[in-house]
Amino acid sequence: MGFLQVSGVVKSFGGLRALQDVSFSVARGEIRAIIGPNGAGKSTLFNVMTGLFPPNSGEVVFDGERISGVPPHRIIRKGIGRSFQITNIFPRMTVFENVQVALFSHHGKSRNAFGLARRYPTIAAEALAILGQVGLAEKHEISASILSHGDQKRLEIAISLASRPRLLMLDEPTAGMSRFESRETVELLRKISREQGLTLVFTEHDMDIVFGISEKIVVLQQGSVIADGAPAEIKANPQVRKAYLGEEIQE
Ligand SMILES: Nc1ncnc2c1ncn2[C@@H]1O[C@H](COP(=O)(O)OP(=O)(O)OP(=O)(O)O)[C@@H](O)[C@H]1O
Ligand SMILES: [Mg+2]
Repeated sequence: MGFLQVSGVVKSFGGLRALQDVSFSVARGEIRAIIGPNGAGKSTLFNVMTGLFPPNSGEVVFDGERISGVPPHRIIRKGIGRSFQITNIFPRMTVFENVQVALFSHHGKSRNAFGLARRYPTIAAEALAILGQVGLAEKHEISASILSHGDQKRLEIAISLASRPRLLMLDEPTAGMSRFESRETVELLRKISREQGLTLVFTEHDMDIVFGISEKIVVLQQGSVIADGAPAEIKANPQVRKAYLGEEIQE
């Protein structure tokens, strides 16, 4: 059984089967992409895997514990961080405060208010360290609302890192970024994954990024897994090429 095991997950919205019998497993420390055309069910799968939606059937097991149907705040405590397809930051706070709030929430759960107050300097240092990891340390004092789109996405990654995840799930981490910003973000994710032994699961439309960074790829089409394997196998898979009309996947 993998570090993350998705087994027979079905999710319907009314009459629409957004996920049908989805199964795959992810090893510890792996970088795994989930790809598929628009509406294939990628975000829905993320939402099931991070507790936003309970599945109609099937289950998700993380590090030996069943997490499907567990509410999102408890899933975070188990070591799963996530970012959303639509950026989710506090625009009226500074970059630093955004990460600080996330750290308070992470540390605060297990301590009383007095203990937390004593930890202020440590938390400030930790926030700066995390911002350094994502390349935002120099911008820590500015308002999150005036960051470029790429920097907002990076801030979101920093916020997800504050909960010290062992698994990070990113839904289109480079959406809306320039080519240059995307490359930088991908390098950053690779570095963080390597340095911290972090398992990374992400969705992405840019095939250069997908094939450049992933160790394994799951392909969804209309809610079903049509392929699961190493990048070379996925590239050569006729069903995958058909799903993408042969346009995006080039030799
Ligand atoms: N909350 C919801 N209520 C009803 N239908 C939904 C809901 N969320 C997703 N769907 C439907 O489920 C299907 C899968 O959508 P999903 O957002 O998971 O696709 P996706 O692969 O993430 O697409 P994209 O690449 O455009 O982000 C779509 O038909 C979508 O309209
Ligand atoms: Mg989506």
